[in-house]
Formats: sequence, structure tokens, C-alpha cells
Amino acid sequence: MRALHNKHQTLTLSDVAAEPIRRSGEVKVQVHYASLNPTDTDIARGDLDLFLWLYRSRSLVRTGLEFSGTVMEGTARFAKGAKVFGYTHLMKGPKTHQDIISIPEDYIANIPEGMSFAQAAAFPLGAQTSLVALRDVAGLTKEKSVLILGASGGLGVYAIQIAKALQLSVTAVAGPSGQKIMTDLGADQVIDYRQTPLEKIEGTFDAVLDLSARYRFNEIRHLLTTNGVFVPADPMKNLSTIAGNVFRHKKAGFLMVEHGNHSLLTELAGWITDGSLQVGPYTEFDFDDFEAAFASLGEQGRIGRTVLRLR
Ligand SMILES: NC(=O)c1ccc[n+]([C@@H]2O[C@H](COP(=O)([O-])OP(=O)(O)OC[C@H]3O[C@@H](n4cnc5c(N)ncnc54)[C@H](OP(=O)(O)O)[C@@H]3O)[C@@H](O)[C@H]2O)c1
Repeated sequence: MRALHNKHQTLTLSDVAAEPIRRSGEVKVQVHYASLNPTDTDIARGDLDLFLWLYRSRSLVRTGLEFSGTVMEGTARFAKGAKVFGYTHLMKGPKTHQDIISIPEDYIANIPEGMSFAQAAAFPLGAQTSLVALRDVAGLTKEKSVLILGASGGLGVYAIQIAKALQLSVTAVAGPSGQKIMTDLGADQVIDYRQTPLEKIEGTFDAVLDLSARYRFNEIRHLLTTNGVFVPADPMKNLSTIAGNVFRHKKAGFLMVEHGNHSLLTELAGWITDGSLQVGPYTEFDFDDFEAAFASLGEQGRIGRTVLRLR
């Protein structure tokens, strides 16, 4: 079985990894596609080594958070042969850059009719995190407004669509090559951050969702309405701001999608089936070309998710 090993901040694809043993409540999956998230680059660089050690993660396979594949050994909910997709816990979960994983069944759902394995691996975290951020963390309801910073990436291509499905007014921000896709996905207004920096954006918003993970509360507070909410994609960089919420009307939200949520994944798969959501664009690489795939993550102007083809 092939696996992408991460040792001393070097990634190596090798055949030595042993097949995982399935524990009670888990589903063993033959992985067909697995995505690359910006967090995988952080892990590959060793930035999260301390946290992985604290979580007692002993596996050398440390990258890969989303996947799609076929059930090899199932449970009552997922029979052998079922086509499934899902994600894994950032610290505790089995990482998906390997041919076979064994994963708790709460982290997976059935791939909806008509969705390919490649699409299914590009979908779960982007769609689920966006819905949780907008509906649950920001608490946005019909006709509220949201400014989405970083709206052309792996999460953004879902955040725009989900915001529109929730009937929000959407202003989307990315670089020049992201302008067309943001418009195509339904943003009411699009902004190129290279031409219009934050200080020059006009108006205020009920929420600002920062998927670029670059901004601090103080840089965006002028863009929030009196009771507006800032939702940073990286809450760890904003913990002191979140802790200070009691002293302010304008709040910062804590966004962390890590625990399995089979019912939410299934709900989102239903949105695909009924046409309220479409799979966003993605770029595909062969597993053997993982180095090129990782390199592409750092390129400006990349649209949507990047996925690795394992079989
Ligand atoms: N909290 C959670 O539960 C959770 C879950 C999943 C992911 N995340 C995090 O969510 C973040 C987004 O993930 P992703 O996969 O969507 O990342 P991504 O694909 O790299 O997208 C990043 C986006 O940011 C844009 N951008 C870069 N610089 C910008 C700037 N100065 N102003 C505005 N936009 C800018 C990029 O546009 P250009 O390419 O045009 O520059 C792109 O649209 C990551 O930090 C990830 O770790 C959090």
C-alpha cells in the first residue's frame, strides 16, 4: 500500500505502510482521491508537529484531510462497495494521503448520484466549513450581508454559493484571476484585493468571513455593522480577540470544523442532488506528482481545491 510519509519535513511516497486495522465503528476505505488543503503545507513544513505530538499522533502519514473512495470493510450504515466521501480530524484522524484508511463512520457520507470521486474529494470540508461559518458561527439569516475574503479558493467556491442559498447579500474578494469564478458562482459584488485594499472597501457587513486567514480583527472591524461578526478561518491566530468578545458589540467567532458530522455532510450532499449547490472547480494531479501538487498550493490565483488521484 502506498502512503505519503512526512519525516523531518520531507514528503516521500513509498510502498512500505501497513494496511490499517479497522476498529469498531470504523469503515475501511480504498481511497480514490484525496485533496490538498493549505493546512497540509503547514503540516509538511512541520508547523503542527508539537500539536500532533500532544495528540499522540505517531503516524508518519500526516497529510490529507479529505477523501473519496470505496468501502472495503463496512458497518451497518455503509456496506462494502459503497461509494463514500468525507474528511478526517486534523490532529487525531487517519490522514488521507494513503491508499487505504480506516475512519470513524461519522466522518463520511454516501457520494450523491452523478458526483465523481474527484469532485467528492474536493467537496466536504469546503462545503461544511462554509455552512457552519455562515449559518452557525456568524448566525446569518436571510437578507443579511457578508463580505467573504479569499472567496476563490477551496472553501470560497462553496462559501459564495452557500451564502447565496441562505439568501445573503454577498461581496466576494480575491485576486484578479478569481474575479470571473466569483461572479459565476453568484456573488453580488466582486473585489480584487490588489486594486481595492481593505481600507478602501465601502460599506459595512453583518459578517466578514476571512478565508484568506490573513487578517486580524482590528484590520476589519471598520467593515462590521454595530453587531457584526468577524469569522476568521484560522481561529488560533485570533484567540485573544475571541476571548475579548464580552467587552465589545462587534464579535469574533470561533470556527473549527473537526468532529465528524455525518448528518451535515448528508444534508450538503442533498443540496448537490437538488441543484442548490454545485461542485466547485478543482485541479487534479496524479498521486505520483504530489510534489507538483504541493507546489501549486502556494501559487497565487489558484481556483478551488487541488486533488490527488490515487486510483
Ligand atoms: N476553521 C476551520 O474549521 C477550517 C476548516 C477548513 C479550512 N480552514 C482554513 O480555511 C482557509 C481557507 O482554505 P482554502 O482551502 O479555501 O484556501 P485557499 O484555497 O488557499 O484560498 C485562499 C484564498 O485567499 C485569497 N487571498 C490571498 N491573499 C488574499 C488577500 N490579501 N485578501 C483577500 N484574499 C486573499 C486567495 O486568492 P488569490 O489566489 O487570488 O490570492 C484565495 O481565494 C485556510 O486557512 C484553511 O486552513 C479552516
